[in-house]
Amino acid sequence: MPDEKTLEKMRQDWDERARENARHYVATGQTEWTDEAFFASGEQAIEEDIRTDMTNVCQGKDPKAMRVLEIGCGAGRLTRALAKMFGEVHAVDVSGEMVSRAKAAVADFPHAHVYQNNGCDLTVVPELEFDFAYSAIVFQHIPSREVIESYVREVNRLLRPGALFKFQVQGCTDLQTSADDTWLGVPFSDAQAVEMAWRSNFEPRYRHGAGEQYFWLWFFKKP
Ligand SMILES: C[S@@+](CC[C@H](N)C(=O)[O-])C[C@H]1O[C@@H](n2cnc3c(N)ncnc32)[C@H](O)[C@@H]1O
Repeated sequence: MPDEKTLEKMRQDWDERARENARHYVATGQTEWTDEAFFASGEQAIEEDIRTDMTNVCQGKDPKAMRVLEIGCGAGRLTRALAKMFGEVHAVDVSGEMVSRAKAAVADFPHAHVYQNNGCDLTVVPELEFDFAYSAIVFQHIPSREVIESYVREVNRLLRPGALFKFQVQGCTDLQTSADDTWLGVPFSDAQAVEMAWRSNFEPRYRHGAGEQYFWLWFFKKP
């Protein structure tokens, strides 16, 4: 179990950011997001990350018949777009303040479920089999390698064999990070990402952006 202090710090800092300006901290491109622009930015990200990658994401399944998991849903920007595309969505976030905003964002989507979690595992999520898991702009903020690896193991527990966990980590390995900084997360080299995958029962089939902030990983659960 990762250090309680780190988990508490992540929760407190993100609650504070949410109270100050949730949408800005979720997507720093604007300080005053309208509903329309905020959710449009989520739709656009889902188009780019998922719609262009349906072979890996859906593996022949109808999206409306798929159950998907999101880690670090923030104010529900991506969760809402996922709920439009998939049959069932479950999303977690460490911040109760963010979770209340995400719940409001998906209020019209009864098949979308949002939970506040403890910042390191998925025990709040019902023990169902998931067809796809996704996380964007979340692990790049987590200061603990142990927490990130705990999520990777937890996703493996819930995914059906062969299914994809597509997620982004910080890839700039020359950054100076510290254990109590919940903005600048711990970076991964390509070798570290690959080792984490194999340790957690995933095949790290594709990687894109090693050495960059947006280092994307395609981990397929081993059969
Ligand atoms: C920059 S926001 C991105 C939100 C969302 N993924 C998006 O792109 O719209 C990062 C989110 O990750 C959440 N987060 C940070 N550390 C977390 C952790 N250890 N477990 C779960 N969520 C976490 C924060 O509360 C925040 O809502």
